[in-house]
Amino acid sequence: MCGIVGYVGDKQAADFLLEGLSKLEYRGYDSAGIAVYDGSKIRVEKCVGRLAALRDKIKDNVPQGSIGIGHTRWATHGRPSDTNAHPHTDCSGDFVVVHNGIIENYLTLKEDLIEKGHVFKSETDTEVVAHLLEEVYNGDFEESVREVLRRIEGSYSLVFMCRQHPDELICTKQDNPLVIGLGDGENFIASDIPAIINRTRRTYILNDGEMAVVRKDSIKITNRKGEPVTKKVFEVNWNAEAAEKGGFEHFMLKEIHEQPKAVRDTMSQRIAKDGKRIVMDELKWNADYLNNFHKIYIVACGTAYHAGLVGKYYIEKLARIPVEVDIASEFRYRDPIIDENTMLIVVSQSGETSDTLAALKESKRRGAKTLALTNVVGSSIAREADQVLYTWAGPEIAVASTKAYTTQLILFFMLSLYMAEIKGTQTEERVAELVAKLQQIPAQISETLSDVEPIKTFAKQYGFNEDVFYIGRSLDWDVALEGALKLKEISYIHAEAYAAGELKHGTLALIVEGVPVIALATQKSVYEKTLSNIKEVKARDAVVIGIATEGDDELGKYVDHVMKVPETDELLTPILAVVPLQLLAYFAAITRGCDVDKPRNLAKSVTVE
Ligand code: M6R
Repeated sequence: MCGIVGYVGDKQAADFLLEGLSKLEYRGYDSAGIAVYDGSKIRVEKCVGRLAALRDKIKDNVPQGSIGIGHTRWATHGRPSDTNAHPHTDCSGDFVVVHNGIIENYLTLKEDLIEKGHVFKSETDTEVVAHLLEEVYNGDFEESVREVLRRIEGSYSLVFMCRQHPDELICTKQDNPLVIGLGDGENFIASDIPAIINRTRRTYILNDGEMAVVRKDSIKITNRKGEPVTKKVFEVNWNAEAAEKGGFEHFMLKEIHEQPKAVRDTMSQRIAKDGKRIVMDELKWNADYLNNFHKIYIVACGTAYHAGLVGKYYIEKLARIPVEVDIASEFRYRDPIIDENTMLIVVSQSGETSDTLAALKESKRRGAKTLALTNVVGSSIAREADQVLYTWAGPEIAVASTKAYTTQLILFFMLSLYMAEIKGTQTEERVAELVAKLQQIPAQISETLSDVEPIKTFAKQYGFNEDVFYIGRSLDWDVALEGALKLKEISYIHAEAYAAGELKHGTLALIVEGVPVIALATQKSVYEKTLSNIKEVKARDAVVIGIATEGDDELGKYVDHVMKVPETDELLTPILAVVPLQLLAYFAAITRGCDVDKPRNLAKSVTVE
């Protein structure tokens, strides 16, 4: 996730560009840049760090001109650096582009462009777009951009500038947001409404495949085929703070709703063209090397640790390698048995968690080969690990982790399938079947999110005032742990998760009339056993809310309420089943008037031991 802006009018472009970017820093802030046409050439100024660093860099010599583009970056391809910062240019500096998204075929395009003599400066996927435009440019800016779009694959919102056409910007989008603000004798482009809300409330929201040629006094919008599109003006009536949250009340709710896109981004570039296998080109360990590992540790904290529990299940089930999962703060002091055939996987959204980082360093010292699963490019954990796989979930602002968890599960699943193929532990057909199911997950999460009202009602109805129990078996237990953590951290309600079969060994004594129990029953292989455990708590008059998959007509007979998630392979169910639990925690916290995005005593990134 990055933030992009554009301006064309009579005023100084840099004023709006810097103001707009400051409102988009929640989308990423590892580097920033602007490009402004100064009457003879396009001047690009960019640098690593937050926008403040760019402001400081140009404070005595702000680029002058009334048309320009800008960018605040959340690194995906290429670490945060001056050269990887946007805008990116072609060889001549005549074509300049800012981009939010991922160009999936950039390596092929880059090789081809290098062969044709183009010289690249950065490690980004975006730079190919500028060189490609230079390559195909035929004097017609609009037609040339259209040709670029025919050749690139992936997700993007893009704004183009061209020195030969100094009175227009061209923008387009595919799977990433883009909005045009309508001014008086000036127009604005931005990733998101907060950037323009101080200048205008009249907007056009672009749809996928649409392209706009934006001049100071006109906007021409066309579809993929070049046919004109007539759009209705969307009047923004949110305040600036709500706009930053995309109209949602809290970042947590926004991030819950971002999950379909986030998991799609995690998958992008990792599914083979034929849709039947996983590719992990970024993993530089070859098959022989990977085959040597006979033991894997997964080490993490909090939600990332819960993702690791599911990861263990995936790796053991699919790739048949033994896995142990550890809490980082314990692992580093427990003298783990590690040798050069041990793989250590650390999981961390932020890539900065002190305990996880320390466990990683300790394992390296003992000779383990290390792999980081993280969201933040260039973070300490990403730099320290031997290999990195990024979740590409975009910035997560709310303290309660949501999209980080689901994208970590996706990544573990893909890694397990990838290793399964290398080890020959699954048939080609089974792998293809699971990859097909995996690709349905974004739409299935959207389906789960399409009606949150019943969950809101449960949260209000039960109040969840004292203790809540979460139970499940197998993968359902792992999800139960995450559901309970969500409820605890944002609503301050005491919640505990138990392996359903373990209740009778003590905890059942706590189940009395009216105690809420959230019972997950999505795992077919242990379904009957789970049902028995549900009957045990029901017999003690607990109030039971069941989580089941579509098509399950049985569970409803034994529980007070059922929430259903779409049907998929039971391995993938955790990615769907966690969504109602996230929402339940969210609405319980709202009902209790808690500060959802900033729960008491907690920090987003725990950089102390
Ligand atoms: O950034 P990390 O993934 O390393 O963070 C680990 C935990 O601190 C984090 O998951 C924490 O448990 C969340 N607040 C849970 O929602």
